[in-house]
Amino acid sequence: MKETVLKKFSEVFGDTEGVKVFFAPGRVNLIGEHTDYNGGHVFPCALTIGTYGAARVREDKKLRFYSMNFEQKGVIESSIEDLKPEKEADWTNYPKGVMWAFGEKGFQIPQGMDILLNGNIPNGSGLSSSASVEVLTGAILREFFDFQVSNQDLALIGQYAENKFNGVNCGIMDQFAIAMGKKDHAIFLDTADLSYTYAPLKLDGAKVVIACSNKKRGLGDSKYNERRKECETALEELQKVVQIGSLGELTEEQFEEYKHAIKDEVRVKRAKHAVYENQRTLKAVAALEKNDVALFGQLMNASHVSLRDDYEVTGVELDTLVEEAWKVPGVIGSRMTGAGFGGCTVSIVQEDAIDSFVKQVGEAYQAKIGYAADFYVVEIGDGPVVL
Ligand code: GLA
Repeated sequence: MKETVLKKFSEVFGDTEGVKVFFAPGRVNLIGEHTDYNGGHVFPCALTIGTYGAARVREDKKLRFYSMNFEQKGVIESSIEDLKPEKEADWTNYPKGVMWAFGEKGFQIPQGMDILLNGNIPNGSGLSSSASVEVLTGAILREFFDFQVSNQDLALIGQYAENKFNGVNCGIMDQFAIAMGKKDHAIFLDTADLSYTYAPLKLDGAKVVIACSNKKRGLGDSKYNERRKECETALEELQKVVQIGSLGELTEEQFEEYKHAIKDEVRVKRAKHAVYENQRTLKAVAALEKNDVALFGQLMNASHVSLRDDYEVTGVELDTLVEEAWKVPGVIGSRMTGAGFGGCTVSIVQEDAIDSFVKQVGEAYQAKIGYAADFYVVEIGDGPVVL
């Protein structure tokens, strides 16, 4: 891949003088969905697929970007002195957002850059291609301008860029999982205070399989912000009867005791998901520690049901993939992953059942939805690196 991006860089930008090559992973979340902006826990891991980038510093203030994933868009130019979100800037709003965010945090970018990207995360799959680009950009800026920032800072700066520059009110999970990734480990992160531990992903001969629905996401981002608002309102209502700073502070029992304070049925369901999903995540991590992969799988299944019925972020595509997966012998657990409304599912599948899983789920999906899903057996990888 390094050779591929260097060759293309040379074709697009003339030569490879002063170029360095970088990689940042994508991520998949195993459990703990829509908990990260509710002060709850998440359990994601970085993948070995992700975004490759070749970059160099320019003498002037110009920015030139090129993506091998959107070749038809050609070179997109702007300036380091004019960092604002623009529709025409298209995908470059992600790296530009990070450059802007570094400036906001006191790290001014002194010179322009040429940057070429090539990602092997399926576009719009919900495996965080945008957070991957954000963390990658941060790693590039740190390397060339010698900024003293940690990987955790890269995650926070990436999230800041996504929130303030690109207008998606996301939590910290994606950028954190990518910036802090560790081979063969999942990250057990408490989003209330960013404390975390690494858990070895010992799946007893099973593999992590991702099924991509190929559903084009449209309204996803606005619906995401809507869910977030619903949870915030529910929290304010609960705070009238119980002293809490976030939904993540409640146990299931406490929620049942105080939920009467929430004055709307829909908001009760949203908050219920946030509370129960957080508790499920704690139980799932404890199960994995005890090598109880079966219980981990059952909790994944329960997570999907809650996302389907209470949080209502699944849709027929993700539900079909998951419900078909549950029917396949050798599937330990299956659920949607990421924001929802399209994107991917994550399943834990016994190695010898993977072929029948792909065939059975694939055929049923095609028959019901009318187009194909894609399947990936993934490996868990490290955070960003200079190659
Ligand atoms: C998206 C967001 C994350 C998280 C998930 C849902 O991926 O970027 O912060 O909220 O959705 O768990």
